[in-house]
Amino acid sequence: MALIDPHSCADSVQPRTRHVVLNLTVDFAAKRLEGDATLVLSGPSAGPLDLDAKGLEIRSVTTGTGAAVPFSLGPSDPILGERLRVELPPGTEAVTVRYATSPGAAALQWLSPEQTAGRKQPFLFSQCQAIHARSMVPLQDTARIRVTYDAAVTVPDGLVAVMSAGPDGVRPGAAPGTTTFLFRMPQPIPTYLIALAVGSLEGRDLSPRSRVWAEPEVVDAAAWEFAGIEEMIVKAEGLFGPYDWDRYDMIVLPPSFPYGGMENPRMTFLTPTLLAGDRSLVDVVAHELAHSWTGNLVTNATNEDFWLNEGFTVWAERRILETIHGPEAAVLGWATGQKALDESVERFGAGSPLTRLKTDLKGIDPDEAFSSVPYEKGARFVALLERTAGRAAFDRFLRSYMDTFRFTSISTEEFLAFLDEKLPGVSTTVGAKEWFYAAGMPANAPVFRSESLERLTALAEGWPDGVRPAPEEMARWTPPELLVYLQHLPREMDRPSLDWLERTLDLTARGNHEILVEWLVIAGGSDHEPVFPRIREVLSRVGRMKYLRPLYAALGRHERTRALAAEIFAAASPGYHQLSTRVVASVMAKYPAPQIR
Ligand code: BES
Ligand code: ZN
Repeated sequence: MALIDPHSCADSVQPRTRHVVLNLTVDFAAKRLEGDATLVLSGPSAGPLDLDAKGLEIRSVTTGTGAAVPFSLGPSDPILGERLRVELPPGTEAVTVRYATSPGAAALQWLSPEQTAGRKQPFLFSQCQAIHARSMVPLQDTARIRVTYDAAVTVPDGLVAVMSAGPDGVRPGAAPGTTTFLFRMPQPIPTYLIALAVGSLEGRDLSPRSRVWAEPEVVDAAAWEFAGIEEMIVKAEGLFGPYDWDRYDMIVLPPSFPYGGMENPRMTFLTPTLLAGDRSLVDVVAHELAHSWTGNLVTNATNEDFWLNEGFTVWAERRILETIHGPEAAVLGWATGQKALDESVERFGAGSPLTRLKTDLKGIDPDEAFSSVPYEKGARFVALLERTAGRAAFDRFLRSYMDTFRFTSISTEEFLAFLDEKLPGVSTTVGAKEWFYAAGMPANAPVFRSESLERLTALAEGWPDGVRPAPEEMARWTPPELLVYLQHLPREMDRPSLDWLERTLDLTARGNHEILVEWLVIAGGSDHEPVFPRIREVLSRVGRMKYLRPLYAALGRHERTRALAAEIFAAASPGYHQLSTRVVASVMAKYPAPQIR
């Protein structure tokens, strides 16, 4: 027996799944997916096959020929779930598991109509990364094993299902009042990329290979915001080679979606907080699109190599940004990333093993280890490789990296071996092993400078000495410039300062949530009562963890805002995704205890 991933019971001596056939009915009343999953194995097999499961109700297991297969569910681990061991009779080529998901399935959020834009129909979406696919489908839930899949998803009439797969037809469901959506995913993907969303959805074509889906109330705004997608795909192809996934569609989810975006292949999932009305937040789309190469084509072997997914993708996102908006815009992205990195390193402590690029996650929940470190330390490492090798040589290296490892999953060590083979000497020059295996930021981390960045930080750092930019200058700032300025302002300000900012910049009314939340963090953290209603509105509507964490943390600074936070959380948390609830609870657990007078 040999485990291949600290977060899976997949065993290297057992057969591997190569294809999954899903047949699921979406039951909104019971909050369950009900049906079966057939796992097609790499060849005729016999003996034990260990699958990951979490909270699944297993009804039966049978072979492809219908013979019953003995199975047993192991004890439940709070992080990993349960091992589902099936005993394959000799010659088994496929097993079918009949099952239902639990109403609390970690991968699924079931939304009431009130939590949607249309307020008439319920909504369901999945989020399988990092290790939640097992709460939706019993399978070998590790990025080391790739599967193709087919699916038939039956939903109530009037609702539409989309998946991280190509559409393969629609037909009336077996039960009256239902419709079955068919899907086919012909490219092998890691299981964390299996994805499903169901709701009242409409699509708008953005280019011959791209469409955006959203609720009818939102879809036109989404189509406008992401109209530039084809240009981005073309730029990304110029950097990384042909787009290999046929279509690039996107879905804008209801606001409780806990991430900014998720790179589900052929169907990127997005938060509606990107709909700023000025196309200023499309860097998130550039990021998810870049995952089509870094992450989805070449995949991290396990969550301990997560930087291979995210570090490369942040670097790629900024290269795409650079070709579209120029090097100054990319530098602002690096500056914003630096802030996020500093906050994560501070949260864990500079010596924490979670600040390594290669992590040891045995016994650790990947959702708990999540931070900006793999993203921003990882991207800085890639940028250092690029600077050391030279851009032209590094771009050639990247192409051969993609060609060599496409549709495979690799570890940090396999990456290092490939780097040494293709760019000899570079790993020693940059000190790759220190970057991978030591905590904190190495001294040779690349620095990103531009005139505009220098000016913005100087202005912001002069704030305590009374430096105020001319309002006409501020009016000319792009949204990323304003964001960088706000990020460098003091975290607490007096009332006249806050009034001046609000008067000059009209911040509370902003639709760009990066700017809005940065402002609310400063104003809320300063106990500034005029913004309380907007804070309540944002925290009640939005479930994106990137915003909840700093906003709730800022409210911890004062007794009055702690009370506000507790009151908002009590009312809003039933609508939060489980991940969001957990993050907020952990932030609030660090609040100082109430003063007893
Ligand atoms: N793959 C991630 C989201 C994710 C990571 C979900 C780990 C679950 C576990 C996605 O590509 C991502 O990084 N999203 C960012 C976008 C940002 C870096 C531009 C987000 O959601 O904010
Ligand atoms: Zn990402």
